[in-house]
Amino acid sequence: MKTWQYLLGGLGVILVALQFVPNELPVVETENPGDLIGTGIVSDEVGRMLKQSCYDCHSNTTNYPWYSHVAPFSWLVAKDVREAREELNFSTWTDYDMMEKLEKLDDISIEVSEGEMPMGIYTAIHSSAKLNEAQIKQLVEWAETTMDLVVEEEEEELEEEDSVE
Ligand code: HEC
Repeated sequence: MKTWQYLLGGLGVILVALQFVPNELPVVETENPGDLIGTGIVSDEVGRMLKQSCYDCHSNTTNYPWYSHVAPFSWLVAKDVREAREELNFSTWTDYDMMEKLEKLDDISIEVSEGEMPMGIYTAIHSSAKLNEAQIKQLVEWAETTMDLVVEEEEEELEEEDSVE
């Protein structure tokens, strides 16, 4: 055998061995009663954009592609999805209090307008998740008007509580 054949064989053995390193992809949950899209504060169009560009990482409904089950990619995918859900999980939107919602919406508008999100490594593979200028503008406007809505909702709830007493 030639040297390169030994090297290739060695690489193959390493890749196979990597598959036995334990790695847990964050679980997928299909029933999410607290999901943002179910709350009615999202237009169909914005909902579709969020689903297409953000939900694989920022929701419990991650659609794992085949390579996400193959080490070492699986480690990267697991880490990104875990961190992304911790920062912002659209599937548990209704669990956030007013301040948290405002903070998330503000962050969304910053990250999207600066082109930081969706992550470049993701859009390089999922080209349909890329946002064009018009979509970026629409998402940012949505995040900003929704911040006003969130405050109004809170005020209405406080008024209702007052009138009950
Ligand atoms: C490939 C996975 C992935 C996709 C797709 C993705 N994100 Fe993220 N996002 C992350 C990760 C990982 C973090 C945490 C690390 C960081 O901040 O870079 C994060 C962080 C964030 C944060 C918090 C940033 C901060 O530092 O406060 C916001 C807001 C956010 N993402 C919004 C979005 C929006 C909106 C979309 C869709 C337009 C999106 N992301 C798409 C992986 C992703």
